Amino acid sequence: MKIQIINGPNLNMLGRREPGIYGQESFDNFLPRLCAQYPDDEIAYYQSNVEGELINKMQEVGFGQCDGIVLNAGAYTHTSIALHDCIRSLQCPVIEVHISNVHQREEFRHHSMISSACRGVICGFGLDSYRLAVAALVKSENS
Ligand code: DQA
Repeated sequence: MKIQIINGPNLNMLGRREPGIYGQESFDNFLPRLCAQYPDDEIAYYQSNVEGELINKMQEVGFGQCDGIVLNAGAYTHTSIALHDCIRSLQCPVIEVHISNVHQREEFRHHSMISSACRGVICGFGLDSYRLAVAALVKSENS
């Protein structure tokens, strides 16, 4: 399976950004461990702080180039109708992921503009949220 992980704004700062919430590990450090757990699958990674670039990437891969997208849209989760519209247009499933449990946090993080367009939502398991999302995509492909 080809899986595209997409991280949105400020997620390039993992490990340095509010470690009490997001942990001490950078994504670059975590990614090889994740890939090693799925040796038969191809996991690509993209990060951008720019909303339109996230859309460009999803449009690039979401029409036949990959079998599923794992998306942590960061704060755009809570604001972006453009991401919602993009996800709805794609041919592959998108899983919404959050490192923190957004429902235990500020009220403005409780609403997601993208959940209703996504296949499912995983939040609150730290970086393991990404593994759980990959597992869900791999399982849905094999069942
Ligand atoms: C986040 C939660 C968002 O509310 C926040 O804006 C982020 C990270 C998470 O992974 O927990 O940037 O998506």
